[in-house]
Amino acid sequence: MILVIGATAQFGRQTVETLADAGRQVRALSRTPERAGLPDGVEVVRGDLTDPSTLAPALHHVTELLLVLPYGMDVRPLLDQARGAGVRHVVFLSSGAVVDGADEQPDVIASYHARVEREIRATGLAWTFLRLFFPAVNSLSWAMQLKGGDVVRGPYAAAAASAVHERDVAEAAAAVLGSPEHTGRAYELTGPQSLTQTEQVEVLGRALGRDLRFEEVPDQAVREQLSQFMDADFVGALLDLMAATAGKPAAVNDTVEQLTGHPARPYTQWADDHLADFR
Ligand SMILES: NC(=O)c1ccc[n+]([C@@H]2O[C@H](COP(=O)([O-])OP(=O)(O)OC[C@H]3O[C@@H](n4cnc5c(N)ncnc54)[C@H](OP(=O)(O)O)[C@@H]3O)[C@@H](O)[C@H]2O)c1
Repeated sequence: MILVIGATAQFGRQTVETLADAGRQVRALSRTPERAGLPDGVEVVRGDLTDPSTLAPALHHVTELLLVLPYGMDVRPLLDQARGAGVRHVVFLSSGAVVDGADEQPDVIASYHARVEREIRATGLAWTFLRLFFPAVNSLSWAMQLKGGDVVRGPYAAAAASAVHERDVAEAAAAVLGSPEHTGRAYELTGPQSLTQTEQVEVLGRALGRDLRFEEVPDQAVREQLSQFMDADFVGALLDLMAATAGKPAAVNDTVEQLTGHPARPYTQWADDHLADFR
C-alpha cells in the first residue's frame, strides 16, 4: 500500500490518479477527506501532519510513502511512526535548489528541503528524492491577471525555466515508488525546453488564441507586495532565484524520459491541458 501526503494538491493528486490508473493500491491523507475529490477506489484517510495522534490509521499496512509537503511542514512525527508501521521506502518531492554536501544551503527553500532529506536519510529507510526546479503549474498564478486583461505583470521577464509538467512529476513518482533500482538516488526533474517568462506567456497566448504579453515589474515592488502575505525570506529566495536565471538558459535533462519511458511534456502541452484554468 502506498500512502500519498499532499494528495489533494497538484502533484500528489496527479500521482494518486496515475497510481490508481495503474491498478496500484493507494491511500491518500487529507485533513478533509470529504472534500478530497479523488478517484473511486482511492482510500482517503483523515489525518493532520501537525497532530501525530491522527497518523497511525493512515500508516496501517503502508509499505511506500510519497511526501509532497507544504513548505515548512515538520515531517518528523510522521517519519517517527513510519518505520514502526512497516514503511520500507520514502519518496520525497524535493527542490532542485538543494546543494548536495553544502555546509550551508543557498536559501530558505533549499534549507527546508535539505533538512527534510536529512531527516528521511536518518530514518534508515530506503529513499528516493525527486528534485524539482520549476513546475509549470507555477504559471497558474497568472490566471487571475489574465481574466482581467492580456498582460501578465511580474518580476524578471527574462527569467528562464525548463518548466516540468505535473503529470511528468506524477509518472516519475509512480515509477520510483517501491522500485529498488531507484533507492538511494536523488533525481533532478526538468521539462524539455528552457523558456523565459516572456516566452511562456506567448506560448499560453497562442494556446488561448489571445495576444498575451509579459510586462516586467521591478523586483523591489514585488518583494514588498508579496511579503505582506508570504514569508519574507521565502519571497526573497524566490526572487533571488529568478534574478539568477534571468538571461541564462535553464538546465534541461532527460531524467523524466529515463524514469517514465517517454520524453518530458513540453510547455505547449501544459498550456493546452490548462486552457480551462485561464478562461
Ligand atoms: N511550486 C514550486 O515552485 C515547487 C518547486 C519545487 C518543489 N515543490 C514542492 O511541492 C510542494 C508543494 O506542493 P503542492 O503545491 O502540490 O501542495 P501545497 O499547496 O503546498 O500543499 C497542500 C497539500 O498539503 C496538504 N496539507 C497541508 N497541510 C497539511 C497538514 N497539516 N496535514 C496533512 N496534509 C496537509 C493538503 O491536504 P488537505 O488540504 O487535503 O489536508 C494538500 O494536499 C512544495 O512544498 C515543494 O516541496 C514546489
